[in-house]
Amino acid sequence: MSQHRKIRVAVVFGGRGPEHPVSCLGGGHLLNVIDRTRYEVVPVGITRDGRWVQVADEPSRLALTDEGEMPSVETVAEPGSQIVPWAGGPAGSSRLDRPPADVVSSAPGEIPHLLGEVDLVLPVLHGPYGEDGTLQGLLEMAGVPYVGAGVLASAVSMDKEYMKLVFAARGLPVGRYVVVHERDWPGRPPTAGTSGQASGSTRVRDAIAELGWPLFVKPARGGSSIGTSKARDMNELHEAIAVARTCDPKVLVEAAVDGAEIEVSVLEGLNGAPPDTSLPGKLELGGGEEYFDFEAKYLDAASVMITPPPIPEDAISELRRLAAAAFEAVSCEGLARVDFFYTPAGNIVINEINTMPGLAPTSYFQRMWEASGMPFAQVVERMLQTGLAKRPGLR
Ligand SMILES: Nc1ncnc2c1ncn2[C@@H]1O[C@H](COP(=O)(O)OP(=O)(O)O)[C@@H](O)[C@H]1O
Ligand SMILES: [Mg+2]
Repeated sequence: MSQHRKIRVAVVFGGRGPEHPVSCLGGGHLLNVIDRTRYEVVPVGITRDGRWVQVADEPSRLALTDEGEMPSVETVAEPGSQIVPWAGGPAGSSRLDRPPADVVSSAPGEIPHLLGEVDLVLPVLHGPYGEDGTLQGLLEMAGVPYVGAGVLASAVSMDKEYMKLVFAARGLPVGRYVVVHERDWPGRPPTAGTSGQASGSTRVRDAIAELGWPLFVKPARGGSSIGTSKARDMNELHEAIAVARTCDPKVLVEAAVDGAEIEVSVLEGLNGAPPDTSLPGKLELGGGEEYFDFEAKYLDAASVMITPPPIPEDAISELRRLAAAAFEAVSCEGLARVDFFYTPAGNIVINEINTMPGLAPTSYFQRMWEASGMPFAQVVERMLQTGLAKRPGLR
């Protein structure tokens, strides 16, 4: 690439999943942080119905409002994107005066031509159709380098069943769980008189009974705690499975782990070196919530992270070692956040790896790097550099 022009980076955010607004927060933040003296940034949004649109390069419009309202791609789409249900903004809006962009949109499923014209794609997408290997596959097909995990690492890490299988095979300490498919557990709600009675296949029913109460029920390929609930009895279990199924036909039922939630941020090592890990951070609930639900994660300002956590030094080292091992277990690239439980007895249980962790200004990923002495601009530069360094073809 010519030294005379800047490196063109498409920052892609939004997306079809329920984490659309969370992705917009991260996308907006990255538009702010990327070094514009080195990079030419092309902001690209994916609407909730899957259309790719060029969006305004206005990070302030991709932030949480004072009223606590989350941003969306629809509200920042450029006027040229006629296929987006967008009203055109207030009369006299300066955005309307701009010439339409070259490539503004494509139908759902079409490979956006724009992607062929950039040096690097930075997909800030969470959940299915973005963090799960589908977008990564599209970029591989188009021959465009991108930041973050590849197809396999993305897909394995998105699916909590396969993630746990890989972790367990690599000797990482996973909690007890049961996978519940639709065939195993019919959608019939418990009726009066039969409440407390289990239904579903005997194998699954027995396996769940062995987990004890309470249980955590979650969509296999979810995120941001959407569709996740805690079940304390059989009625709540039925309800929780029905809720999780609105996100994913495959559901995980897990034994509740009694422990502090501690996370570690990971960055791919430079020039093939082992991954770097941040100091761990311990999540503290703001109040009211029983676990880290959507509210606690994004809306409750009282939810904080303590870095480093008040635990023994050797536990901190072990958490960092396990985070790097988890990163390598799934062949992750670029970045990740690995989440653990730390029990009162000092045992560590790995909960999950997020190949595209939340990147909003208040994100735990950023805070842990800052606490470790790495400012976010430097973290982002590292993400871009390791993305640009990928060689084409199989890696
Ligand atoms: N097995 C469990 N034991 C205790 N708490 C859990 C368990 N599973 C999930 N949780 C709670 O639910 C939250 C979301 O679950 P998680 O598996 O991290 O899904 P997501 O991908 O949506 O973040 C966790 O941060 C934690 O607060
Ligand atoms: Mg989580």
